[in-house]
Amino acid sequence: MLSRANKNILKVKPYVPGKPIDEVRREYGLKKVVKLASNENPYPPSPKVLKAISLAAKKANRYPDGSCFELRQELARRLKLEPEQFVFGCGSDEVIVMAIRSFVEPGDEVVIAKPSFLVYSIASAAAGAVLVEVPLDGLRYDLPAMKAAVNSRTKIVFIGNPDNPSGLYPTSTEIAEFMEGFPSDVLVFFDEAYFEFITGRDYSDTLALLKTHKNVVVARTFSKVYGLAGLRIGYGMADREVAGLLDRAREPFNVNSIAQAAALAALNDGGYYKRIIREQTGERTRLCEALEKMDMEVSRGCTNFIQVRLPRDSGEVVLGLMKKGVIVRDMSAWGLQRYIRVSIGRPSENNRFVKALKEVL
Ligand SMILES: Cc1ncc(COP(=O)(O)O)c(C=O)c1O
Repeated sequence: MLSRANKNILKVKPYVPGKPIDEVRREYGLKKVVKLASNENPYPPSPKVLKAISLAAKKANRYPDGSCFELRQELARRLKLEPEQFVFGCGSDEVIVMAIRSFVEPGDEVVIAKPSFLVYSIASAAAGAVLVEVPLDGLRYDLPAMKAAVNSRTKIVFIGNPDNPSGLYPTSTEIAEFMEGFPSDVLVFFDEAYFEFITGRDYSDTLALLKTHKNVVVARTFSKVYGLAGLRIGYGMADREVAGLLDRAREPFNVNSIAQAAALAALNDGGYYKRIIREQTGERTRLCEALEKMDMEVSRGCTNFIQVRLPRDSGEVVLGLMKKGVIVRDMSAWGLQRYIRVSIGRPSENNRFVKALKEVL
């Protein structure tokens, strides 16, 4: 059957997710496994969200509201946008896919940073796009080079704001310069999965760009700070016309009813999530300091993960850590040899990682 498959799909390198906890437990006969590999929130949803989930579960016999009406109204009110400017996805991953589906035809170009979030390249390849990868400058986006890579065949430029794996964002000045004179018929997709973690004053207000630019999409998610990664819900915001185009590329019932109820409840339980952000930010600093004391080079970023440069091959170290019940991400898949990416866990999980790393090294 391979010869009959879609040629673009054959070109796709499958996404390799972080190993699930149960798999590692089974494989190495371990009792307790700590997963710091997928930039998840280490805490469960708030009690109010859990209640909303169980109420929604009672109606799981019905199809969900394909338009996410209530959540749409609530986000529009909070973010001072029109409800029609939103599009909802099964995770913000799906919003990325919808943007590509609605704009990219085989042979069109998509500009991304190298390395950057893997879904940009996977979804572009599946659509038959020509990927134009612009190397990072150190760990930071080289926005002038990305702008220079845009031509009449370019349909979308993806900007991880901040990106994964770097954990860094382009400053508001850099983004303003990038947008200055940028072609109005090329989509600029700001992926803000980690938005709620950011406190920097130099972080760009991309929602303000929506007022002046019809070619901007901003995507956010409930997977990170709001801890709903397992329910899969994210959203995109754009000019009404662009949002409408993305919406056409969506499956009719792509966001399930439990996810919609949970997201709405999470928005209305901000205090719980603010405490988590505060703890995670403090833990990030503590973890980085512990690693720096071990003479490790660390990229702290501003999200719920860090990148660590190891003194030796990352594959060996990742395996050694896994055998000790700690799952982290080997960055060699991104072409970053000797690097691992570590999500910030609960304090006890972070301690366990540091101890295991000392032993493995
Ligand atoms: C930069 C970035 N964008 C988007 C996503 C997708 O998140 P989700 O599909 O869970 O909303 C992730 C997840 O790790 C990410 O790191």
